[in-house]
Amino acid sequence: MDRRSFIRTALADVGALAMGTRLSSYTRGIQGRPQGGSDSGPIQGSLERGGTLREFTLNLEPTQLEIPARGIFEKWLYNGQFPGPEIRAKEGERLRLTVRNNLPEGTTIHWHGIPLRNAMDGVPDITQPAIAPGGTFVYEFDAAPAGSFLYHSHFGLQPERGLVGPLVVEEKKPHVEYDREYTLSLNDVLAGAPMPLGRPMNAGSGMPGMLNPPYFALLINGRPPEAPTVFSVKTGERVRLRVINLSGATIYRFAIGGHPLTVTHTDGRPVEPLRVDSLPIAPGGRYDVLVEAKNPGAWPIAASPDSELPPARAVLRYMDSNESQARAGALPEGLTGGRSLNIDDLRGLGLPPAQKPNHTFNFVLAGGELKPGGMMSPAGMMTQEWTINGQAYPNADPMEVHMGESVRIRLENASAMPHPMHLHGHFFRVGNVLKDTTIVWTHSKRVELDFMANNSGSWLFHCHNLYHMTGGMMRLVRYK
Ligand code: C2O
Ligand code: CU
Repeated sequence: MDRRSFIRTALADVGALAMGTRLSSYTRGIQGRPQGGSDSGPIQGSLERGGTLREFTLNLEPTQLEIPARGIFEKWLYNGQFPGPEIRAKEGERLRLTVRNNLPEGTTIHWHGIPLRNAMDGVPDITQPAIAPGGTFVYEFDAAPAGSFLYHSHFGLQPERGLVGPLVVEEKKPHVEYDREYTLSLNDVLAGAPMPLGRPMNAGSGMPGMLNPPYFALLINGRPPEAPTVFSVKTGERVRLRVINLSGATIYRFAIGGHPLTVTHTDGRPVEPLRVDSLPIAPGGRYDVLVEAKNPGAWPIAASPDSELPPARAVLRYMDSNESQARAGALPEGLTGGRSLNIDDLRGLGLPPAQKPNHTFNFVLAGGELKPGGMMSPAGMMTQEWTINGQAYPNADPMEVHMGESVRIRLENASAMPHPMHLHGHFFRVGNVLKDTTIVWTHSKRVELDFMANNSGSWLFHCHNLYHMTGGMMRLVRYK
């Protein structure tokens, strides 16, 4: 292909794509624009090499969403869908996403997990001004590397209104073979508008309260347990499932009845296949697993939460079996016994050699106390404050790093809740894998994350429980 021409794929309606309709594409010569400026990341340039441009439009609108068997809810959605439409590209293509904001508030979109250039990271006031009501913004970045990702609003608690969706970048050459694939999006849903967790100022002391958001259901691909999504397979197939946790605050244990899970990717990064019976998945986290369809029938797929709610559910059904659905109602045995994934057991593929850190940050994660004030606190309310070394963002020191250095973040969880910690713009090494979101469990003494400072700009590092994030458990990583 000529260096200056590339295929342009028109995707007028991502909703149709999400439902599996193939849309026509057409070719047209457009000049690749030279990439430049100080905000250029290290992996830009597919267009300049003669790549494919893949375009999507996301319309953001208040929408009345019908959740099967539950009713109609006022949500803010991407293209009227919950979760948002799946955005899918091939490794190395250029993504161009036109965002039209028809919400009554400003917004931004963060492309979670993709190490893009800083200006495209979608953090209001840090990488761009918020997209005003009525405004439009065009995000453009290379779809690289391949993996399962997500996108969501990065404006306060807005994702809790429904502004979340899956994003998939297909590999040129997957390291495992499969016959069929499905994306499984996990969501916790609120009936009304999100509120910081707290209580009125005069209602007692600042005791640490284990306050939970008032979710009314846990969904898989937008459907509750009593009206579950059915994933059809045929005997003998190898099925790839991309499990993506789009939830605001819920950590799940995921399993499938009658079928072990072979973990092939964590946060989109390939690992040596490992067989387990269940796996823990935190908000912002992703696991790709292979399931061998050799146990005909209808089986439960379930994600059991760390809250009082009944598990999220779906069904794995063999098209070529007429066995009854009965078993699909049970809970997978992997949720009560068997081998659960431990992140230390995974081995990443193509992992760069471990580096001695040039710089170490020692952080203690704490909080949960009710305090007046803070980033999201309405007047007259006590809300939960969450801290890193006693500091609640935005009143927190930035983490200053230099280009090219190896940085270690050593985390200790001194609080009574687990924290899924996420770094923007970089993968980090934890144990023998690369990830971008990893859980610091309550009783784990320490987790060490190592990353290469190779993507200049200002990036967030935060807990992906949105209530902890907006309660202060966040820092800025700033390149000097
Ligand atoms: Cu998915 Cu800053 O987050
Ligand atoms: Cu947290």
